[in-house]
Order: sequence, then structure tokens, then C-alpha cells
Amino acid sequence: MSFSKDFFWGGATAANQFEGAWDTDGKGDSVCDHMTGGTVDRHRYFTNTIQRDTFYPSHEGIDFYHRYKEDIALFAEMGFRMFRMSINWTRIYPKGDEKVPNQKGLEFYRAVFRECKKYGIEPLVTISHYELPYHLMNKYDGWVSRECIDFYIRYCNTLFTEFKDYVKYWLTFNEINCLTMSIGDILSGGFRCEDGPAQVMGLPDTQEQLSKRYQALHHQFVASAKAVKLGHEINPEFKIGCMVAGGCIYPYSCNPEDVLLAQKEMRMNYFCGDVQVRGEYPYYTARMLEEYGISIRMEEGDKEILKSGKVDFYSLSYYMSTCSTVNKDVLKTSGNVVMGVKNPYLKSSDWGWQIDPQGLRYLLNELYGRYQIPIMIVENGLGAIDKLEADGTIHDDYRIEYLRDHIKQMDEAIKDGVDLIGYTPWGCIDLVSLSTGEMKKRYGFIYVDKNNDGDGTLDRFRKDSFYWYKKVIESNGEKLD
Ligand code: BG6
Repeated sequence: MSFSKDFFWGGATAANQFEGAWDTDGKGDSVCDHMTGGTVDRHRYFTNTIQRDTFYPSHEGIDFYHRYKEDIALFAEMGFRMFRMSINWTRIYPKGDEKVPNQKGLEFYRAVFRECKKYGIEPLVTISHYELPYHLMNKYDGWVSRECIDFYIRYCNTLFTEFKDYVKYWLTFNEINCLTMSIGDILSGGFRCEDGPAQVMGLPDTQEQLSKRYQALHHQFVASAKAVKLGHEINPEFKIGCMVAGGCIYPYSCNPEDVLLAQKEMRMNYFCGDVQVRGEYPYYTARMLEEYGISIRMEEGDKEILKSGKVDFYSLSYYMSTCSTVNKDVLKTSGNVVMGVKNPYLKSSDWGWQIDPQGLRYLLNELYGRYQIPIMIVENGLGAIDKLEADGTIHDDYRIEYLRDHIKQMDEAIKDGVDLIGYTPWGCIDLVSLSTGEMKKRYGFIYVDKNNDGDGTLDRFRKDSFYWYKKVIESNGEKLD
């Protein structure tokens, strides 16, 4: 195997999906705290007021807030070298536009980082993982407003200053490219909206909506670049990366029309990375915006800001691949962020996401060829239904198979020459699913006793994959069986 001796093996989480304690110790409500539970067949709802007798899964999550010591000890037992987590913006600035941070929030994260340090685990912190303060949505229409840049930078300044001795690795925005799609309207953009089903709330791709999305995205690009520059000034040792929802999109056939369409759709992978890694909008931007019939308002100095805040490394989530075709008469498939056409060569998860380990090798090569900077895979994994046996065991061989096949392809990619420096599989401990709000869709090495309705003891159990991953890390990727 080709993994370097300091390769970052670990796991990934997000505050809104596992912390709970949604209004404890001065925390404000974030956009995700307004999303109800759902299932694969029933959409999550977004409600502007928090309603009594309605279940909002983020409110308790899996209660990491009160159980972080136990959970980090379990990560350490597996041998984690890195733990990806996000900071909940509303724990630090409850409304987002205050001038003074909430001390209790800072204390909580300091305690978490100290606990990681105790075990030699390097934190990887996502500054914004779908956790925009609801107040910024309500009052400012989220990232459409340029003022959000200043609020975000104030928040970053607090984090960088307070935690500069604990955290070296940062990600500015989770899956920033979601904002090019309807799925990002609420989650990433924080656009004001009526109560309604959250997945389809992402409004249709009208010119007005596209215009909002790209304007908000421009503000995030500027905010991200300013954060990178600021971070390096506060601590030159910081490594600050971008995070892009990755996915392979293959042409469904060798019809040149399909090939061109797939190339165009692959730009959903490249557009944001191009800006954040190279510090400028890519060559195809003008035509793309012209086809949408929109333009982006830039202020004087924005181009220089983008240039001055290029990221140190590239990170991505990778779960699946899909296909593109001009032919309308084909089977569709669902997936993480991007939906597409079913690939007859691939199997799918219970939630219809197509499993494609080789697609990971392909994508890593494409990305490294394009950017030539270190890459981390900060999300990957299989959402599946697990059974807790009476003796407290969970036999999740399907998850082991999925992860093993992806790790093999990572090894191939490194042998191809890709500078891959870390792997933090998603939901290393079971947590709330983002798309459906379920607990039933589990990714973890650690099982959490809680069901879709929010009932359960919250007790933690080691799955078979826990012991397997421990061996993988111990052997630095040599022992995969
Ligand atoms: C990614 C998100 O898109 O996919 C995570 O960054 C999310 O927040 C993960 O949980 C898996 O998606 P889901 O819908 O299965 O939770």
C-alpha cells in the first residue's frame, strides 16, 4: 500500500447533525434547526417558527454536546489521526451579526479540542457546514446580502484567534458548490423562504433564482478568500482548504452530445474549485452566465481578494457517480446533491446512490491533474440500515465492503501520483441524515441507539466495521480484509 506514514485516517461529522443541545448555553437557532424529520419517501419540512409537538432532529442530534468525551475516546480507540467536525456558528454568534462572541460556545469547542489533543487527534474544522444563523436568513436574506461577508469574517477571526493553538486544518465552506443548485437555496444560501418541504424548497432554476445563487456564491468566494488570508496572518502554519461535493458524471453513451453534456455537468465539480484554488473565475464562466441570462455584481477589489486567498489544499465528499445523456428515455437515479441517469454497470445503496469506487480514482486523478495541490477525502461512506443484535453487536459487512473498495482505489490513485493526504469517512458515529433527517440511514463505525422518531437510549455500540477500521489504521491501510 502507498499511504504515507502520516496519512490522516479519521472520520467526519457536522455540528447540526450530531451535537444536539440546540438552544443550550446561549446557542441561537441555525437554519438546520428549522428542518423537521423526514424519511426517504417523506420530505423534511422547513418551518420559520419552531413548532411545539414537531420533531426537529438537530435539536437533540446524538447529543455529542454532552457525550463528546465518550465519543472522542471511541475515535481514539479506533486510532483516528484526524477528526473532522464543524463549529456551529450560532454557538459562537447566536444571531450572526453580534459584535461579541458567546463565551460558553467558545468554552465548549476548546474543551472538545483539548480532548482531541489528549489522544493526538488532529481536528479538521469546517467553519460553515449548513449552519447559517437563522437570523441572517430572516433579516438579510442570507448570503445574497454582501453584509454576510463581514459577519462571517468576524466569526472566522474569533475562531482563528481563540483556537490557533488547537486547530491547524480548516475548511471554509462545506460543499460550497451546492449553492449552484436548488438544494443549496436554504442550506447553503440561507435564502428567505415560506414554510414548506425542504428538499423541493430549492426553488426552480428560474433566472431570478440562478441570479441569487451565483451572487450569493460570489459572496462566499470573497468570504472564503478573505478567511484564508486572515488565517495565514493569524497563524502562518494554518492549512485552509476548500470543500466541494464531488461526484463523477460519465457520458451515458459515446454519442458526442452525451460527452459534451457530461463535460458541462462535470463543471459542477470544477467551478468552485477553480475559483478557490486558482483565485479567479474559470474561462467558461462568461458563457455559462450568458446562457443563464445572469450576471454577477462584483465590487472593486474583489478580483484581487480572490487572488490573495487561494486555498492550501482541496477537499471533497465522494459517495457515488452518475451519468448524463441527452436521451430523455432513460432511468433516473437519486444521489448526494446531484441526481442523474442510472448506470447499468453499477449497484446502488438502499437510498439509490450508485456505488462506484473506481469513480473515486478517476475523479482524484482529474482533480489532481487540474490543481496539483494536496487532496483530502473528507466524506465518503455507505448510508445503510443496521441491525442491533441482542448481544449489542452489529454485523455491517456491507459497509466494510464499500469502504474497503474505496480505500483500494485511493491506493491506486496515490500510485497514479495523486497527492492524497487524508481520508475521513462520513458519519463515523451514526448521526442525523441531512437529506432525509433520518437516523435509520446510518454511516457510522459506532452505532447510536436512536430511531427516526427520536426515541432511544443514545447508548453507543461498536459495529464490526469499528474493529475493521481500527486494523486498517493500525496497519496504515495494509490490512483491508
Ligand atoms: C454531504 C453532506 O452532502 O452528504 C453531509 O456534507 C451529509 O452533511 C452527507 O450528511 C450524506 O448525506 P445524507 O443525506 O445521507 O446525510
